[in-house]
Amino acid sequence: LSKKDFMNKKVLVTAGPTVENIDPVRFLSNRSSGRMGYELAREFANRGAEVTLISGPTNLKPPSIIKKIIRIESAKELRERVLEHFEDNDIIVMTAAVSDVRIKNYSEQKLKKDTIVNLEIEKNPDIIKELGRKKRVGQILVGFAAETENLKENAIKKLKEKKIDMIVLNDVSREDIGFEKEENEVTIFTSKEELRLEKNHKRIIANNICDFIFSTFF
Ligand code: C5P
Repeated sequence: LSKKDFMNKKVLVTAGPTVENIDPVRFLSNRSSGRMGYELAREFANRGAEVTLISGPTNLKPPSIIKKIIRIESAKELRERVLEHFEDNDIIVMTAAVSDVRIKNYSEQKLKKDTIVNLEIEKNPDIIKELGRKKRVGQILVGFAAETENLKENAIKKLKEKKIDMIVLNDVSREDIGFEKEENEVTIFTSKEELRLEKNHKRIIANNICDFIFSTFF
């Protein structure tokens, strides 16, 4: 029987990639299967939390224990939905791989070879940074970082600059873990602690992340 340590807690989880349309047939996206976020959402719900899952396009079947699932495509839609639910939640887990950029002018017609080279891109809003500013006392903001170099440095920088309470770092330069894989190996950082979770199934990693959140913040 699973423990119900997140009973009476509301948890918002974002998962999967965002998709930024270029024209009716092309898009810009990030590598992400959504698996880590879905496993986290499932684990929080198993432990008694009321979970809202906001998901970009994935091939995954949502865990049946999750009653509230919101589908999004672009980072703009993700931002709107997250802001709508932010205040109501105690723990916000931003697992989604948000596209840092979007296309400036979506084309209603399929672009031709000679026009597509002139694509203009612009920055997407940094959602988690906005949440870090809005956060009220007692709310826990969890971020993810997928890095290929200077892993620890980048993770700690994000934690501080974006006012995130805890960041889960993935080394995406490794081929055996992370994107589209069943397994992951991560390091958790808070302002005071660092904890390495050895390579394991994403379901077990999700379980360990929940344990860490509970023992650190509650
Ligand atoms: O800075 P970076 O994009 O690597 O930060 C990763 C974390 O920030 C993830 O938790 C991701 O969900 C979040 N993020 C965001 N808005 C963006 C880009 C990333 O909330 N535009």
